[in-house]
Amino acid sequence: MAILITGGAGYIGSHTVVVLIEAGYEVVVFDNFCNSSDKSIKRVEEIVGKFIPLVEGDIRNSIDLEKVFENYSIDAVIHFAGLKAVGESVAEPLKYYDNNIHGTAVLCEVMQKYGCKSIVFSSSATVYGDPHTTPIQEHFPLSATNPYGRTKLFIEEMLRDIFVADNQWKIALLRYFNPVGAHISGVIGEDPNGIPNNLMPFITQTAIGRREFLSVFGDDYDTVDGTGVRDYIHVVDLALGHLKAVEKLHTFESVMAINLGTGRGYSVLEVVNAFEKASNKAVPYKITPRRSGDVAKCYADPTYAKDVLGWEATRDINQMCEDSWRWQSNNPNGY
Ligand code: NAD
Ligand code: WQD
Repeated sequence: MAILITGGAGYIGSHTVVVLIEAGYEVVVFDNFCNSSDKSIKRVEEIVGKFIPLVEGDIRNSIDLEKVFENYSIDAVIHFAGLKAVGESVAEPLKYYDNNIHGTAVLCEVMQKYGCKSIVFSSSATVYGDPHTTPIQEHFPLSATNPYGRTKLFIEEMLRDIFVADNQWKIALLRYFNPVGAHISGVIGEDPNGIPNNLMPFITQTAIGRREFLSVFGDDYDTVDGTGVRDYIHVVDLALGHLKAVEKLHTFESVMAINLGTGRGYSVLEVVNAFEKASNKAVPYKITPRRSGDVAKCYADPTYAKDVLGWEATRDINQMCEDSWRWQSNNPNGY
């Protein structure tokens, strides 16, 4: 019996593969490498000292997926595969609707055909839109501020409908806050294409000299120092949350939406300071205007995850920065 990891060659997927293998699970990775390569899985094999079955295919292609279900006995799916660049989703919404929503529909159809009805889905804190208040609890109103976020919201709804139609399905909607960090070995990590959109890879690329300076998007928010506050979570803690979700899935009697965050917010400048301390590198920055669509504060109330999964994040901002830096300095140009 194995767990199918769609998007398993990507940033969060590759770290989750390590955690699952170390916990004794068999996995099959499925990826079309549109935002990754098989190098990450080769590196995971180095870490765990084991061969990892890897199938190249697209979740929108039922024939690709059926091959996996024919060749392996799949117990459950962790569904990471998706496009995630907010700006690109505004420019090319149909690409996102097709890849993320249509892709998930095809995946669920194939799962249903093969009697596999357990899925852990990569949702996002983006489904809370611009939250009225923080910390954010799972019952807060949902909304989207861009097409990427809308795909996450719609997929959540689609999975709820699937459960209503057949309540044998076991479904976890894991809403990640801001994943950062890397495996402690420094062998796998985040390797964005082109200019990073997210804060941490922009910081690490500035520290290594690939970028001249960090633009801090706005210092006039109603926050501790005026810069945006987010709930950064170590990717290994996030991966461990998936392990817990897989272990608990069979006990779920309804669709479970669960925040995966630390409960602690850090401003952009606090992250820059923590990073400089952890890496002993300077991160030159300039304050620039706000980025459109950004919210002032976004951080989780992680109580529910502790209650239902018995999970909580343990790695602090210092470790997040140290591990991000180890990955970047060992791999200045990524994989
Ligand atoms: P990533 O881009 O590193 O990984 C996604 C993987 O999915 C890539 O390897 C990509 O090649 C693959 N993929 C994409 N479309 C595919 C398709 N049609 N068929 C097969 N494979 C496909 O991204 P990540 O940061 O690891 O994110 C994983 C998931 O978590 C995504 O669904 C993302 O939306 C979600 N998420 C990420 C963040 C974040 O900040 N990183 C936050 C919240 C949610
Ligand atoms: C964090 C903070 C920026 C870059 C995005 C997606 C969200 C989710 C996670 C997938 C903010 C500031 C950033 C920079 C900066 N992804 N910043 N200079 O915006 O919270 O969330 O990634 O689901 O959907 O929207 O993360 O890392 O882009 O930004 O000042 O060069 O850093 O303004 O305050 P965000 P981020």
